[in-house]
Amino acid sequence: MPLTVLEHALAKQLLTRLRDETTPPDQFRPLTHALTQILLVEATRTLPVRELMVRTPLEETAGSALREGISAVPILRAGLGMLNAVLEMLPETHVGYLGMQRDEVTAIATSYYAKLPPMTGKTALLLDPMLATGGSASWAAGELYKAGAERVILLCVVAAPEGATRLQADFPALHIITASLDRQLDARRYILPGLGDFGDRLFGTF
Ligand code: PRP
Ligand code: URA
Repeated sequence: MPLTVLEHALAKQLLTRLRDETTPPDQFRPLTHALTQILLVEATRTLPVRELMVRTPLEETAGSALREGISAVPILRAGLGMLNAVLEMLPETHVGYLGMQRDEVTAIATSYYAKLPPMTGKTALLLDPMLATGGSASWAAGELYKAGAERVILLCVVAAPEGATRLQADFPALHIITASLDRQLDARRYILPGLGDFGDRLFGTF
């Protein structure tokens, strides 16, 4: 499945402001919200629909609705910053949570929490703004497939080539939607140019 990098003028402006080291948390949060809305529009572009008829005030006409249920699953904690944008646009969405924490030295992520709604036959939107080594997203995607998800779409703000390559190797059917494919990881496995530690910038824990 493809990696889609948003080609969108507004998305680029939002990402630029997120990258800016002077952007404080009270601006970082709404910027994340707005960019997630654009990621979601792209993520749902080709989802299966069922045809239906609708009556306008003037006449009956053909319409459509999404065919499968949607589950949104943020990876704690930074993915929480993306959740409300999804719930606003898809209010019937069921929500699961997966807690992952990267070790500060090894950058290896371990899981500390998992609570998923029924996933069988569902489209799972995995929310994690940073795809670095891919360790967190790969473990999380595995949990979603194990729980029966029909398809998994990862929405992320910035992806590193290393993480995208790993995820595509681990789950060829998974679709990655990102606002940017950045250059590389640094020695601490932070994304370059990146935007720093997303969770810290979102919640002000510097
Ligand atoms: C960050 C980020 C991703 C993960 C990406 O989370 O939010 O979940 O790192 O890195 P990876 O691709 O190398 O696994 P972190 O572990 O810092 O936790 P936090 O969201 O609680 O800050
Ligand atoms: N997690 C982040 O928040 N930022 C990075 O650059 C890498 C992992």
